[in-house]
Amino acid sequence: MKKDILTLAELEKADFERLFQRAAELKARHKQGIRDRSLLDKSVGLIFEKPSTRTRLSFEAATIQLGGTPIFISAADTQMARNEPVEDTARVLSRYLDAVAIRTFSQTLVEDFAAAADIPVINALTDDHHPCQVLSDLMTVLEFKGRLEDVKIAWIGDGNNMANSWIDAATVLGFELVLACPDEYAPHEELLARARDKNQRIRLVSDPAEAAAGADVINTDVWASMGQEHEADSRKNVFASYCVDSKLLEVAADDVIVMHCLPAHRGEEITAEVLEGERSVVWDQAENKLHMHKAILDVLISGHRAATK
Ligand code: CP
Ligand code: NVA
Repeated sequence: MKKDILTLAELEKADFERLFQRAAELKARHKQGIRDRSLLDKSVGLIFEKPSTRTRLSFEAATIQLGGTPIFISAADTQMARNEPVEDTARVLSRYLDAVAIRTFSQTLVEDFAAAADIPVINALTDDHHPCQVLSDLMTVLEFKGRLEDVKIAWIGDGNNMANSWIDAATVLGFELVLACPDEYAPHEELLARARDKNQRIRLVSDPAEAAAGADVINTDVWASMGQEHEADSRKNVFASYCVDSKLLEVAADDVIVMHCLPAHRGEEITAEVLEGERSVVWDQAENKLHMHKAILDVLISGHRAATK
């Protein structure tokens, strides 16, 4: 049966482990100059309804490096923009392609697409989730910390799509996740309640210093996500005390790493000093999107089972 990645809640621990293992293996092989070709003669569609630098380019490069062909499709140029039912598009594209990654607003659209498609469907960001980003971020945490079980991960700022995917990951993998968000910008209440039923070490607080205290990883993201640009000014006031700066780092573990999925707004959610500082791992984090996206395509399309190697 085909497998999709629409949220991280639907993955099992073994799925995460297989992806971490395969991504690390593909990264090491790439650095050694070994070329894997598991997507030879395969085509991957990338349907994007929002802008992207990293996700689009890393999925394109990942597909090419594995011997396949990426086909970028701006949603605005398709009949989807003229209200062709998403299920019809999914059924047609299933006859042409071997997988589709979609970046759009509505999580429901991605789920409806996946339900009608015969090929793997990958969520490349919706208003509610950004699962592939958090998979590559977890890969980065593993590289720097060597483990996930007893790390404390802090999320500072908006309870947005990234926060939701971090909550999903913590629910399945069991690590400590403390989110500091303004009351009116907390993550989905229901999602958080379901997560806390399974992992009491997922907590929501309002004070950034409480989340950052002793943290091994500090994570942040923009205050106004794509589609919320009109709220940017009002959000700046509410989020003013949620900036990841050097003072916040003082309460974290000495070897804390600072992560940001990018694009970053220096002087808003993170200072330039911290983003460019020695605790920042954001460029490695961005690189790992390439390796993790290769692993995702490899596992979903060619069914590679690294765990059995
Ligand atoms: N982090 C991330 O998803 O970046 P892009 O919006 O550039 O794809
Ligand atoms: N929360 C951000 C992430 C960008 C990669 C957004 O949705 O715009």
